[in-house]
Amino acid sequence: MRSYRPRSIIDSFGPIAYTGNVFSRLPDVRAPNVKVTANFASDNTAAVHPAVMAALADVNTGNAAAYGHDETTEALNIRMRAVFGNPDLRAFPVFNGSACNGLALSRMIRPYESVLSHRQAHINNDECGLPEFFTGGKLVPLDGPGAKIDPDGIGRLIESSLGHSPHTSRPKVISVTQSTELGTTYKLEDLRALRAIADRFGMFMHMDGARIANAVASLGADPAEVVRGIDILSFGGTKNGAMLAEAAVILNPALIDDFAYIHKRAGQLPSKARYVSAQLLALLTGDLWIELGAQANAMARALRNGLLAMDGIGLLYPVEANELFVTLPRAKADAVLAKGHRFYPWPNEGDDAYRLVTSYMTTQADVDAFLSDYVNA
Ligand SMILES: Cc1ncc(COP(=O)(O)O)c(C=O)c1O
Repeated sequence: MRSYRPRSIIDSFGPIAYTGNVFSRLPDVRAPNVKVTANFASDNTAAVHPAVMAALADVNTGNAAAYGHDETTEALNIRMRAVFGNPDLRAFPVFNGSACNGLALSRMIRPYESVLSHRQAHINNDECGLPEFFTGGKLVPLDGPGAKIDPDGIGRLIESSLGHSPHTSRPKVISVTQSTELGTTYKLEDLRALRAIADRFGMFMHMDGARIANAVASLGADPAEVVRGIDILSFGGTKNGAMLAEAAVILNPALIDDFAYIHKRAGQLPSKARYVSAQLLALLTGDLWIELGAQANAMARALRNGLLAMDGIGLLYPVEANELFVTLPRAKADAVLAKGHRFYPWPNEGDDAYRLVTSYMTTQADVDAFLSDYVNA
């Protein structure tokens, strides 16, 4: 593993003085007469989609039963069952993605068991040990190109763990991120191959779907097919236009019962659940969630195409969703950042590696402004 000094958010934003909230210093790209700069820092920087805001206003009337016994949460469940083609699923609204993952995993493993995920997985790298804290169990990092678990060799790893019982934690869950942390997607056949391994060893499968809308849009597949064989899905809303809303979707009905206790004990059962459910229901109305995912994906492709038409730029991974990993000449990158565009250096992928993330809010004007400032930098 290469050693490096991480370039902090402050370094990467160059001449802008850090006053606590870098993003608050950005010009409003929607205001007239203001130079357009693009925010490719994260899909979490996007505003709440107007349909979500409208849905919040709509449910903000009268009294409603608390703790998920309200009509909006019931409607969300009905809609989820239709979308994922599973009449038995149950969706539990939660406030954020890390907790959603931790809840899902804690329903599937005991403290002496383990979760196999890719080394780059958010659960392994970006949740400050929350999954271990929630479950008491162990995460086992695996390799594979493009942040996708390579099914080859997992069988042997599981067999050797089981053969070393009780000294090695018992593998119990395979967790996949869809789309992945490197902007790639698991194809349906990839998921089927992993499910076959899970079946062979009596394991569960978890999907971190913080960006499932991007994956569904990219694969062009029926959402039911994308989650086939998954026991619990962490359904993402926040990166795709929600204010703060995700759902633990229990697709395997045998896991539903005790989940309510786990949900409550982790402090993730919203008393006014209607406000979380309404956000997700708004996204799931019609195909809005997939349309928003498709817009973000299309803008990532536009950015890729524009950048690859220039000299000196390397594409690190195929762009299959809304994240782009490229190498850029450092001086050019710094100059574009200085012009007000936002994106992160990604030193894990190399000294001159950068991550650019699009969202449902990204427009062709954002992409064009970035590309033209890049050319002139
Ligand atoms: C792959 C993935 N999973 C889960 C999450 C959820 O994180 P949070 O707890 O910040 O909502 C994120 C957010 O960056 C993510 O990228």
